[in-house]
Amino acid sequence: MKAPVRVAVTGSAGQVGYSLLFLIASGEMLGKDQPVILQLLDITPSLDALKGVAMELEDCAFPLLKGITRSDKAEQAFQDADYALLVGAKPRGPGMERKDLLDANAAIFQAQGKALNAVASRNVRVIAVGNPANTNALIAQRNAPDLEPHCFTAMTRLDHNRALAQLANRTGCDTTQIHGLTVWGNHSSTLYPDVSHALIDGKAAHDLVDRAWLANEFIPAVQQRGATIIKARGQSSAGSAACSVIDHMRDWVLGTPADDWVSMSVLSDGSYGIAEGVFYSFPCRCSNGRYEIVQGLEIDEFSRERMTATEQELLDERDVVSHLLP
Ligand code: NAD
Ligand code: LMR
Repeated sequence: MKAPVRVAVTGSAGQVGYSLLFLIASGEMLGKDQPVILQLLDITPSLDALKGVAMELEDCAFPLLKGITRSDKAEQAFQDADYALLVGAKPRGPGMERKDLLDANAAIFQAQGKALNAVASRNVRVIAVGNPANTNALIAQRNAPDLEPHCFTAMTRLDHNRALAQLANRTGCDTTQIHGLTVWGNHSSTLYPDVSHALIDGKAAHDLVDRAWLANEFIPAVQQRGATIIKARGQSSAGSAACSVIDHMRDWVLGTPADDWVSMSVLSDGSYGIAEGVFYSFPCRCSNGRYEIVQGLEIDEFSRERMTATEQELLDERDVVSHLLP
């Protein structure tokens, strides 16, 4: 049996947290042979609810769950953390864009970046889920100067999975038959789901779906899916978000399939001409616990225009939080 690893989850008393914790404890994230210690963080008024969640986790008698800690202090929850899932933040309501949450949420990621810097494992792997996720990841990363930038990511896997589902529905195939799909940019209504390099059962996606459907239905549907769910449910996505966190972390840690890539928001190194210093969603392959941006994909004019628009939004968001970026 492997030694247990420490998984810190912020916002553990919230709705994404509630969907996520049971999946982690059952081995869906790190494998059925990897014991875990869950280090739960929420704010002081949620500590009673957090106690209830911990009791429920205990009641599952998960063979892999070797301990649970609860705290309202980031320095305690992140102590020696091997993984940090930054979920705790205010969700948006109807009619809001995710970047409207910057005022409410940015300071959380500044404080948590500092706490990770102080006490987490030097190899901690961090995913920012709380919105606006990309810019929150940037804030956390910039406030953790002693950790490698490669430790930090933000989640666009939900958008990737949404795009797979829309394309599979349209073409009558299974999501597993689609390879080479990319979501570029920000987790926002400017994100760009790109099928230019996608193969569906070995055939070019572009030969199976028409351009008008892509431009007028597919792209807006993926961009607006979060808002559509809020309208229907009255609350933002939770179960699908939690499953995507699991997918993102599992693939990062255990590796992506040899014949495919996934979409992850990572610190831009200038790949594809995207400005350095923003967390941008790229096609990524992972092995040995590290991600690499897939290089060399051809970008046509249609894609470039959309990739630039979402890049610009990230640069604008970065300007808004510049006072939090040391
Ligand atoms: P929620 O309101 O149900 O839960 C949020 C939890 O975070 C609450 O328990 C709250 O007390 C806690 N919290 C607030 N401030 C905190 C802090 N400083 N430290 C620790 N915990 C804190 O919200 P939710 O539906 O679980 O969503 C959480 C966040 O995830 C939102 O910002 C939402 O927009 C975002 N989200 C992102 C994606 C994505 O694809 N990136 C998907 C779904 C949700
Ligand atoms: C989502 O994409 O479902 C989440 O980011 C929640 C939201 O605000 O849309």
